[in-house]
Amino acid sequence: MIAKILVTHEIPDKGILMLQEKYDIEYRKTVGVISKTELIGMLKDKNIVLSLLSDTFDEEVFRNCPDLKMVSNYAVGFNNIDLKAATRYGVYVTNTPKTLDETTVDFTFALMLAVARRVVESDKFLRSGKFTGWGAMEFLGGEVNRSTLGIIGLGNIGKSLGRRAHYGFNMKVLYMDKFVREDTLDFPAQSVNMETLLKESDFISLHVPLTDETKHLIGEKELNMMKSTAYLINTSRGPVVHEAALYKVLKENKIAGAGLDVYEFEPAFHKGLEELDNIVMCPHIASASLNTRQNMSIKAAQNIIDFVEGRIPEGLVNREVLK
Ligand code: GLV
Ligand code: GLV
Repeated sequence: MIAKILVTHEIPDKGILMLQEKYDIEYRKTVGVISKTELIGMLKDKNIVLSLLSDTFDEEVFRNCPDLKMVSNYAVGFNNIDLKAATRYGVYVTNTPKTLDETTVDFTFALMLAVARRVVESDKFLRSGKFTGWGAMEFLGGEVNRSTLGIIGLGNIGKSLGRRAHYGFNMKVLYMDKFVREDTLDFPAQSVNMETLLKESDFISLHVPLTDETKHLIGEKELNMMKSTAYLINTSRGPVVHEAALYKVLKENKIAGAGLDVYEFEPAFHKGLEELDNIVMCPHIASASLNTRQNMSIKAAQNIIDFVEGRIPEGLVNREVLK
């Protein structure tokens, strides 16, 4: 196969150099989100695309791009791709697992610590010239160490979070994941149901992929079961949380706070969230360390090279395509 490769956006250079050494690639440094029509246009004579999670691949795209044989997604999540349609059209889909787990966990701690210890709010206070001297009652927040962490979704990222929460912060770890048994874990954690997790956790962190089942997993009912002193952290995908319901409980101080890196209608977010002090909001940057973003680019490129050279790419997510 002659590899006709499109890279939709700018990514760190290591993977690009790997590809350029072997193939002629079309490297489009598109700024912003690409519309479906534009994407179809760009893909016309291409058989491989290195895409970002903001590029949407649905049935219509596959139907209109008959030469397309592979989507190498520069992300661990792949909810931007209709996997069943990809398989039907014989398109390989790959992701970049294991490159970003630890970095995402760092960031999950960053959000937990930032919201509980009011880092962003107090930074704003200081910058605006309001700090007039140390006060015993200023910016009292929640305690992270020794508190209870409830992890929803114990895949690679969830496990790493649990391990570090236990060994690094002496936290008690609860989790909900029907596929993971306690005795398979290398750190102490208790498998519980949703109700127990919601009622007993001081921090709840989401690490599920976005699917039909996990959409709005955390809605009004779930939020109202949380402790009034608890925090919700989301570094997974925005639609896992019903954002309007979250806004309501935060505004009414029914929970202590939230740390979000992802949004239901990304890049938009529920109007009013930006006015609340009990939320820390970041623009989907959990994997954004220089080192990790380079490793993701190497992995995304290696998946392409393996595919072109006839090996099964390590990051293949729709194994059914092999049949
Ligand atoms: C980031 O959100 C990813 O899925 O890699
Ligand atoms: C705080 O700065 C303290 O010294 O207690």
